[in-house]
Amino acid sequence: MSDTKNIRNIAIIAHVDHGKTTLVDELLKSGGTERENSQLAERAMDSMDLEKEKGITIKAKNTSVHWKDKTINIVDTPGHADFGAEVERVMKMVEGVLLLVDAHDGPQAQTRFVLKKAIAEGLKIIVVINKIDRPHSTPEKVQDLVLELLMELEASEDQFDAPFVYGSAKNGIMIKDLSDPQENMEPLFQMIMESIPEPVAMPDEPFKMLISNIDWDDYVGRVAVGKILSGSVKTSDRIFVAHRDGKKSRARVSKVFEFTSTGIKETPEGVAGNIIGLSGFEDIDIGETLMANEEDTALPFVEIDPATIQMQFAVNDGPLGGTEGKYVTSRQIWERLQKEMKSNISIHASESSKGGVFNVLARGSMQISVLVEMMRREGFELLVSRPDVVMKKDEEGKNLEPFENLWIEVPNECVGGVMKLLSERRGKTENMVQHNNTTTLEAVIPTRGIIGLEFEQINLTNGRGVMSHLFKEYGPYAGEIVVRRTGTLLSNNKACTTAYSLFALEDRGKLFVGAGIEVYEGMIIGENPRREDLPVNATKPKQLTNFRSNGDGKGIQLAPPMIFSLERSIEYIAGDEYVEVTPQNLRMRKKILRFEDRKRVQKQLKQLDESLA
Ligand code: GTP
Repeated sequence: MSDTKNIRNIAIIAHVDHGKTTLVDELLKSGGTERENSQLAERAMDSMDLEKEKGITIKAKNTSVHWKDKTINIVDTPGHADFGAEVERVMKMVEGVLLLVDAHDGPQAQTRFVLKKAIAEGLKIIVVINKIDRPHSTPEKVQDLVLELLMELEASEDQFDAPFVYGSAKNGIMIKDLSDPQENMEPLFQMIMESIPEPVAMPDEPFKMLISNIDWDDYVGRVAVGKILSGSVKTSDRIFVAHRDGKKSRARVSKVFEFTSTGIKETPEGVAGNIIGLSGFEDIDIGETLMANEEDTALPFVEIDPATIQMQFAVNDGPLGGTEGKYVTSRQIWERLQKEMKSNISIHASESSKGGVFNVLARGSMQISVLVEMMRREGFELLVSRPDVVMKKDEEGKNLEPFENLWIEVPNECVGGVMKLLSERRGKTENMVQHNNTTTLEAVIPTRGIIGLEFEQINLTNGRGVMSHLFKEYGPYAGEIVVRRTGTLLSNNKACTTAYSLFALEDRGKLFVGAGIEVYEGMIIGENPRREDLPVNATKPKQLTNFRSNGDGKGIQLAPPMIFSLERSIEYIAGDEYVEVTPQNLRMRKKILRFEDRKRVQKQLKQLDESLA
């Protein structure tokens, strides 16, 4: 298979649940090469547990399907708004895309952003209308909807003439015409080979490859992933790494990999046009070039988004600290962060000036909350702060902050509300395009304004809005953004909550805890509609004074408490608060727990402000 005509590189674009994983599994099974490893992990592409639960792809992964003497490399596309840059890199690695659409539900707005990128990149499209076995499926109607979408997104004539395949990934069949007999997956394989162009690559030139992604393998460490643009590469080859700063360093290829359903597999040689992985390099990054000749020019460096978000991770020093987690010490947290940095190039952690507190940088708050959730499941207990943006200074010492391009698509009737939301967050709407029932807004917005925006827009549009964003540039500080207009109800003591006390507190604001929950001084147990923090007692053991109720409180009907997810808690807290994360619980609290201590520090800060003014 040392010929580009036997290789095809494609990306899959699909809305959650339209059957991407099932389709890839079926292609792998039909291709036959996975038989040697017969327990094909179900749902090969969603390898992280967390991804399975959230139903989104967090990191783009690759799979190679072998069919006859052909290799089809399939690259997954991340589905979350925080990973816009990764989508762009994926589109540069492939020559075509499979647009997978449910024959019942039709194309969904979430895929629009990725499809638009594919169209802009000039990629060839194959439309797969899946789940035709579903009762009440309407493949013909869905086909019309897809064509409308392609037109709206300004597909070229060639892209608009995309071939269609219909089928049922679940039943392992694909057909080119709805009246064809339903036999197997062959029609899709054939169509991929016929319609997707072979990779443009130069097999006879010296080896060169642009690193498009970094993977991690527990045995070999960092794996540079990319498409070979010219030549070929074998284990033990001596090559050069052209770094982004222009320097070149020598390296030896320790292993060549191809992608399987469950990970990577060694292969003797990587050839031009193929997407492969190479190990043997400690110090490499996305966008750098690997090449056989030192004197060759490196490929143009592909910029990676800078880390613009930072958060603090700290040892849990609260009254319940260490009681619920397996790993709770500063050393354990630091070791875990160091391990993460090796395999996840988008996370950078460092020790802060304060013992037991670490700064964690990433490209989006979603990436950090995924890490926190993973740590929690592994048995860690820790405190995390609200995400903040990484500021810079210009030559004159003025503050600069990161800005993003934001695309947000909402039902027409929600446009006014969403525009208000954007302007409150200092976003400037630059373009507005109306489709049938929806409108796409394009805005430039400070990265600060993106934090928590998704939650608010989902509330506002009843879950019908979709957003994506991409780092744009650093620019002058845009002014204050009020993130929370409410204050908190804080527990003023350590004990268990009682129905009596909570019932009385219901008038004060929304509650975040029910009865019988352990709370402590400085823990946030509810929301005060006014902006200040109000210490309250939620733990009075029995009716005091003249509260008239029968018996021991069993008759009291409390409103259900508001329960926050990890992501939501992280976005909800203010700068002087933490989320306490343990394997069993999520709590929100003040960084300084004792009321007296907080008051003292606030006074000191005020004095400092006045002396500086
Ligand atoms: P995420 O992993 O959540 O991104 O979804 P996905 O797009 O990978 O979809 P997945 O393959 O997990 O399929 C979603 C659901 O649809 C599963 O319950 C599948 O069994 C089902 N499904 C997939 N293909 C078909 C099909 O052709 N027909 C029917 N009836 N169901 C299907």
